[in-house]
Formats: sequence, C-alpha cells, structure tokens
Amino acid sequence: MERKRVVVTGGSGRVGRHVIECLAAAHEVVNADLAPPASGQKARFIRTDVMDIDAVRAAVKGADAVVHLAGLDHDWGCPPEQYIDVNTRGSWHVLQAAEEQGVRKVVLCSSISICGLQEMRPDWHPQALPIDETHENRPVYPYGVSKQIAEAMGESFARKGRMDVICLRPLAVILPETLGAYLDFVDAPGRNWLFYYVTAGDLARAFRAAVEVEGIAFDSFYIGADDSSHPRPTLEWFQDIVGPLPEATDHARYRRNPRASVFGNARARARLGWAPTSDFNAMRAAHADRTLEREDA
Ligand SMILES: NC(=O)c1ccc[n+]([C@@H]2O[C@H](COP(=O)([O-])OP(=O)(O)OC[C@H]3O[C@@H](n4cnc5c(N)ncnc54)[C@H](O)[C@@H]3O)[C@@H](O)[C@H]2O)c1
Repeated sequence: MERKRVVVTGGSGRVGRHVIECLAAAHEVVNADLAPPASGQKARFIRTDVMDIDAVRAAVKGADAVVHLAGLDHDWGCPPEQYIDVNTRGSWHVLQAAEEQGVRKVVLCSSISICGLQEMRPDWHPQALPIDETHENRPVYPYGVSKQIAEAMGESFARKGRMDVICLRPLAVILPETLGAYLDFVDAPGRNWLFYYVTAGDLARAFRAAVEVEGIAFDSFYIGADDSSHPRPTLEWFQDIVGPLPEATDHARYRRNPRASVFGNARARARLGWAPTSDFNAMRAAHADRTLEREDA
C-alpha cells in the first residue's frame, strides 16, 4: 500500500483520535482542528477553523486525501442554525479547498441521521429491514439535514471527475470510555430506539479503508456493527417498539442471526472491503466483569 499524506479535520475529537491512530499506522497524517489533540497523537497538528476557507486551503495543500470529521455532532444539542452553518459550509470549504489544491479524494463523515429514522418520528418508519443505502432519506432535525446537504455537495464535486468523494454514515459510535453510558441508555426501561452502534475501532478502520480503496468516484455507506445492542431478537423488539414489520423484511437474514442490526453493512463490506469485528454481547459481558472487579477492589 502506497503511503499517502492524509489530512484529517476534527482529528482531536472523539472519533478523530481513533481515525488518526488507525491511519498513522500506514500513512503520514495531519490533524486540522480548532482544538489541539491530547498529548501523544502521531500526527502533525495544524490549528484550523473549517469556517475559514483560507485556513482550510493551507491545511490541505499537498494532501493525497482529506478525511473531514470536523463539525458539530448531534450530541452537542447546538442551535439549528449552527448545525447548518458549520456542518454544511464547513464541508463545502473542505470540498472546494481540496479540489483547488488538487487533492484526489475526500472522505466525508456523514451520519446515520441522514435517513431521519433515528429521530423515531411516529410518521416515519423503516421501509425495509435491513435499512441500507437504497432506503429513502427524510430527516427533519437540522443535524441530519446538514449531513444530507453535505453528501449532496460531495456528489456535486465528484460529478466533475477530478476528485473522488466517499461518504461514511457511522451508526452511534461507542468509544471504550462511553460503553457504560451507552449501556445505561439502551437498557433504560421503555427505551424507544433502534439499538444500533459501531465501535470507534471498527469505524476508524472504515475510514482507513475509504482512504485506501481505489475506483469509487462517489458513494455513501452505512458503517455499523453486524448485531444489535438489544438483548432480544431484532424482529421481536422491532414489533414491540416500532410497529409491524415492513413488507420488505429480509426474514432469512434474521433467521441466520436473530440479533442482526436493523441497519445493513453489505455495501461497505463489498465495496470498501471492510467488516466490523464487534460482538455486543461480549462487550456487555466484559463491561459487567470490569464493573464487578472494580466493586471487589
Ligand atoms: N459520535 C458519534 O456517535 C457520531 C455518529 C455519526 C457521525 N458522527 C460524526 O463524526 C464526526 C466527528 O464527531 P465526534 O463524535 O468525534 O465529535 P467531537 O465533537 O468529539 O469532535 C469534533 C471535532 O471537530 C472539531 N471542530 C468543531 N468545529 C470545528 C471547526 N469550525 N473547525 C475545525 N474543527 C472543528 C472539534 O474541535 C472536535 O475536535 C462529526 O462529523 C459527527 O457528525 C459522530
């Protein structure tokens, strides 16, 4: 594999740290972020505001690829206009600056929120199981809308044929230090949700695969675990929580793995050559063991 120069925007953040660690094993990596990283990161840091296009031009100069993670995540509960401003204009700046500087590939960090299903609106249910990239997107919240606009902008750049653009749509990201909080969330009685996740390590490998893959001019991929974080069979809890199964339900998939995720990852497996490694029941058991050990100590 040819060593590339990769600029990662948002490399000081929760996902960015893992992406930089994974990329730095094979490539020269630059972290372009507003905030400096925690100490020990194996990347040069260039303080960059993605809202300042000149700063982005300077940061991406000479790069083979840019991974764009900088932005406002759903978790931060920002005012709507800030999501649209930072996540869409920031993405435009990265795409425009990369194209101007002759960068050959941009990997945009989109989100599961693009489809709007995680909003759990009563008027908008999954049209198929599993949900994949062919499923309609109908977000209402500004965060999901900002990701939909960013993907559309990415496609418009790719259409010109000078730069490839790949959009990754991570499911809820579990970091080693947030597993406990994630378990509290999914295990809360009456939780109205779709019980999806991806580990930060598996997600970081998907970003590396997207940087390294050849021959994809434009595409979008859900990046998620094979299994669900709900202890019961997926088609059972789905009917209790969401309602009747969609007509387009792949029953054979849920017979093969009763706890298979409601989101599919077949496209990422096939086109990026990526596969998740996590097993939620094993993560849950290991977390319980660690909690017991701490209580015993
Ligand atoms: N965490 C998740 O569960 C999740 C799920 C799906 C998608 N995502 C996406 O992943 C990406 C990274 O999210 P995260 O969870 O690491 O969030 P984070 O808030 O931990 O990291 C975001 C980083 O972007 C930087 N940043 C913010 N505004 C900036 C600006 N104007 N210029 C330069 N840098 C700026 C921040 O300093 C921070 O280091 C985001 O695009 C987010 O939408 C996250």
